[in-house]
Amino acid sequence: MTTWNLQGTVNHLLICNGSSCKKNKGEEVAEAIEDEIDKQGAGGIIHTTVTRCNGRCSDACVVISYPDGVWYREMTPKSGKALVRRLLEGERLEDHIVYMYDGQLIAASSKGTKGKKKK
Ligand code: FES
Repeated sequence: MTTWNLQGTVNHLLICNGSSCKKNKGEEVAEAIEDEIDKQGAGGIIHTTVTRCNGRCSDACVVISYPDGVWYREMTPKSGKALVRRLLEGERLEDHIVYMYDGQLIAASSKGTKGKKKK
């Protein structure tokens, strides 16, 4: 068991490892993101948590970035590494964004409007 001092953390990445994301290389995506964080010496800046299903299985593998509230779809090990580098530059991985947060989640493209409406 670990208790991290998270002061100074800039981004928290929630990496989905539910069954659909797992089938779409979720574990490899998590490993690639963590490897890139280590490579960049950014362990004190980007924190990661592996989650269960985030409710967007058709977007597998899903990675969510906070506090910016950006949801990334169809992540791969390669795009996971790119995401780490972009975040460290204060940028986003535009091609993979499905939702952005502006008081509520906003679909970045028509892909974000697909799915069952929550009641
Ligand atoms: S398993 Fe990842 S969003 Fe459902």
